[in-house]
Amino acid sequence: MTKTELIQWVNAQPKVELHLHIEGTLEPDFMMELAIKHQVQLPYSSIQQVKDAYNFNNLQSFLDLYYLGASVLRDEEDFYQLMWRYLLKCKEQNVVHCELMFDPQTHTERGIEFCVFMAGFNRAIKQAKTEWGISCYLIMSFLRHMSEESAIETLNSAAEYLDHITAVGLDSGELGNPPEKFSQAFKQAEGLGLKKVAHAGEEGPPSYIWGAINSLGVDRIDHGVRSIEDDSLITYLANSQLPLTVCPLSNTKLKVFTNMSKHNILQLLDKGLLVTVNADDPSYFGGYLNENYHALIEALAINQSQVRQLIINSFKASFLPQTTKDIWLKSFE
Ligand code: ADE
Ligand code: ZN
Repeated sequence: MTKTELIQWVNAQPKVELHLHIEGTLEPDFMMELAIKHQVQLPYSSIQQVKDAYNFNNLQSFLDLYYLGASVLRDEEDFYQLMWRYLLKCKEQNVVHCELMFDPQTHTERGIEFCVFMAGFNRAIKQAKTEWGISCYLIMSFLRHMSEESAIETLNSAAEYLDHITAVGLDSGELGNPPEKFSQAFKQAEGLGLKKVAHAGEEGPPSYIWGAINSLGVDRIDHGVRSIEDDSLITYLANSQLPLTVCPLSNTKLKVFTNMSKHNILQLLDKGLLVTVNADDPSYFGGYLNENYHALIEALAINQSQVRQLIINSFKASFLPQTTKDIWLKSFE
């Protein structure tokens, strides 16, 4: 199969997205439209200027623009539109199920309450399920540069929305904010029956991945590519089949790898880890789920059975009920 044929094949497959920040799907044209609607002053005067600003040296240089961009999201309709536009993308790309992160503190810090963003998100999610059968679970992520008290306060504020939240997560600036800082917040979340994920080993060392496993008891690691530096961690991840949600375009845009040909996803797959492909912040990193697969196909010597394995892995690593997983997995036999 040629690379072009493999790209066409991957486009046609049913797929799952497990690591995507809904605020990271805010496209430059929509950002400018909302800035005008709410009279928010942004340091850009055209859509092109927004796009030109998307040159990052590391995670923090991206996060600065990402939080600035999110400041245009104000009312229920904005959050509905953000989610709806993303779910439309899922339909176009054959993404049949997604598990999306949202950052409540990015909004509550600006005085925008849970009832505003949850109503917008839920309206779009319900509509996509009814119209297209696409399922969407929500992962409430705590900002790790903030305190654990703030994370617990966020968890308490979510009390009446827990029926619509599947998991908690941990994102934002990794270095200097190890997982252990949030052990009480995650313990409380576990007590509430929520699943747990955390960003670890994106920029942070393998000890942060161990921290997410041992102090937070996570069900998945977001990124985790630096696990390759620790043989005993690789053995643990291979044996436990604890999934990693890897984001190729994000990793190259944020200089975790100098270019895609240096990406270690095939090494991790070869070592038997349950690795998956994901988009992270597609509007900022140049592509949604299909484009992440395309980037791997173009840069690496990856064959069809490896791509199939990556797709199968994301169904396995999802929080879907086992019966639903089995139905999808059967279609790959
Ligand atoms: N928030 C949005 N994208 C992120 C990433 N890649 N790492 C940490 N926090 C994030
Ligand atoms: Zn992320």
